[in-house]
Order: sequence, then C-alpha cells, then structure tokens
Amino acid sequence: MQIAFLGLGIMGSRMAANLLKAGHPLTVWNRSAEKAEALRPLGAQAAASPAEAVRGADVVFTMLSTPAAVEAVALGEGGFLPAMQSGALWVDCSTVDPDFSRRMAAEAAGRGLRFMDAPVAGSKAPAEAGKLRFLVGGKAEDLEQVRPLLEKMGSDIVHAGETGMGSALKLVNNLIMVQGLVAFCEGLVLGQALGLPRTLIFDALVGQAVVPGYIGGKRAKLENQEYSPEFPLRWAQKDLHLAAAAAFEAGVALPQTNIAKEIFRLADRAGLGEKDLTAVLAFLERDEE
Ligand SMILES: NC(=O)c1ccc[n+]([C@@H]2O[C@H](COP(=O)([O-])OP(=O)(O)OC[C@H]3O[C@@H](n4cnc5c(N)ncnc54)[C@H](OP(=O)(O)O)[C@@H]3O)[C@@H](O)[C@H]2O)c1
Repeated sequence: MQIAFLGLGIMGSRMAANLLKAGHPLTVWNRSAEKAEALRPLGAQAAASPAEAVRGADVVFTMLSTPAAVEAVALGEGGFLPAMQSGALWVDCSTVDPDFSRRMAAEAAGRGLRFMDAPVAGSKAPAEAGKLRFLVGGKAEDLEQVRPLLEKMGSDIVHAGETGMGSALKLVNNLIMVQGLVAFCEGLVLGQALGLPRTLIFDALVGQAVVPGYIGGKRAKLENQEYSPEFPLRWAQKDLHLAAAAAFEAGVALPQTNIAKEIFRLADRAGLGEKDLTAVLAFLERDEE
C-alpha cells in the first residue's frame, strides 16, 4: 500500500515516524521542508509539493493546524486533492469542525475519492509512543482499510459515526479538556493567593476525582512553569473557536466555552500562542501593570 503523510508538526512528525518504524513506505510533505528531510533517515521519501506527495498513493493522511491550512494544502496552488488517484482514501487527522469535514468529503467525492475524518486525542508523548486515540467519522469499510495503519499510531479507535462525527467528538473532547485546565489554573491562582504552597495544592488534589486525569501529566509543566509546546496554546484557542462556531450553527449556547476562548485569545495576544496551552497559567498569574 502506498501512503502519503502531509503535515509534520509536533503531532504529524511523530505519527509519520511510527508508520515508518512499522515498515510502511511513506512519502511525506511539509510546508517547512526541513521537517520532511528529518524523516529521511527513517526511510521517508520527501516530496516537493502536496500534489507530488500523493501521486500513486492509496491512502493520504493530513495532520495540519486549522481548517484554512487543510483547505490550502488540499485545494490551493499545488494542492493534493486534484492529484490523488481515483478511489484513493484521504484521512484527515487535523482538528477541524464537522461542517468542514463534510465539505472536504464532498470535494473528495466529486473527484471519485473517499474521505474520513480521524482527529486524535492525546498529545506529543502519546503521538511518539503510538498511543493516540482516533475519533473517526466515515464509512466502516474505509475505517477497516486503514485500521492497521491507525493501530501503528494509536492504541484506541472510536468510530463515532458518519462523516464529520469524528470532528464533532473531537471538539466536544477539547471543549471539556481545555476548560478543565482553566479551572485548575484558576484554582492554583486562588490557592496561592490564600497562602497555600503550589506543591501542596498539587499533592492534595491531583489524582482526586475533582481534577481531570490529564492534569497529572501536565503537572511538571505547571509546577515548573516550563511551557515548551506539546499542544500549542494557539491551537487550543482554535478548537474553542471551532466549538463555538459549531454551536452557533447547531443553535445551542456555550457561554463558558466562549469565555474560555477569549481567555486563550488574550493569552495568545500576550505572546503565549506558541507555548504549550498550560501557559494559560502564566497569563492568569501575570502581574497587572
Ligand atoms: N499537539 C497536540 O497535543 C495535538 C493533539 C491533538 C490534536 N492536535 C491537532 O493536530 C493538528 C496539528 O497540531 P500540531 O500540534 O502538530 O501543530 P504544529 O506543530 O503547529 O503543526 C502544524 C502543521 O500544520 C502546518 N501548516 C500550518 N499552516 C499551514 C499552511 N497554511 N499551509 C501548509 N501547512 C501549514 C505546519 O507546517 P510548518 O511546519 O511549515 O509550520 C505544520 O506541519 C492541529 O489541528 C491540532 O489542533 C494537536
């Protein structure tokens, strides 16, 4: 099976590396070419454009930042969608909104191609360890075709329903995850202002039912104020925005999500966008001028 992988950022580079380590021949492309070159020692072929990368591919994975980035790489100049061979399957692992997934599925179908949304839960470390959780929308037979590939990159696969449902579940996942983090960070700010040592707060609360499990995995970053990016803060804000926009379309209200979204925009504007999303703590702890 010929496979192409486009988008080799924090997540994509590690997912592609796991396919290569499992022995799958892979053609890769990334906007910044050095990230594609970095996979050559593992056996990857680096392509000069998205269109070149997908030539002859049976399956094409994308792992790009935003819906706009996916659309540019798929349908912009040198885009891959018109270059895919008839009947091939595009698996978009980027976090996007369900309407966008359905629109890309229609673009694919119009060209005799198949489409599956397969965003992931889990960050840099699970991506490296091949322990991501795929949230899939699309046809069961398409999922079965790529299941052995997903199993090289992940340890869990949820088939959420038809096209767009993987993206829907991913937005729900991140809406909960990001707001849990904000709540914990506000707890840290208050606790310390009231005189509780930071370490005591962690020791007393991490692992208790009130604190989401993933906060334990972020403890070192929060405790040491070490905000090198695992999940860039800017993409967390993007996900809250996509959730808010999807809620608008669906006619439901997400008041708290919209507040969290604006907290993350302010943190981004304060220069923290490329840091890990845990840097929202630095924003909440900043000294007012
Ligand atoms: N990091 C996580 O913990 C995590 C977990 C689950 C899901 N996700 C989602 O996975 C996706 C990728 O996240 P990431 O953390 O890997 O982000 P990242 O490290 O910032 O990588 C983003 C990728 O998108 C590419 N890109 C951005 N704009 C582009 C454009 N206009 N044209 C072409 N390529 C473009 C970047 O290319 P360059 O290298 O040239 O900039 C890079 O390959 C996002 O949708 C994110 O929300 C992330």
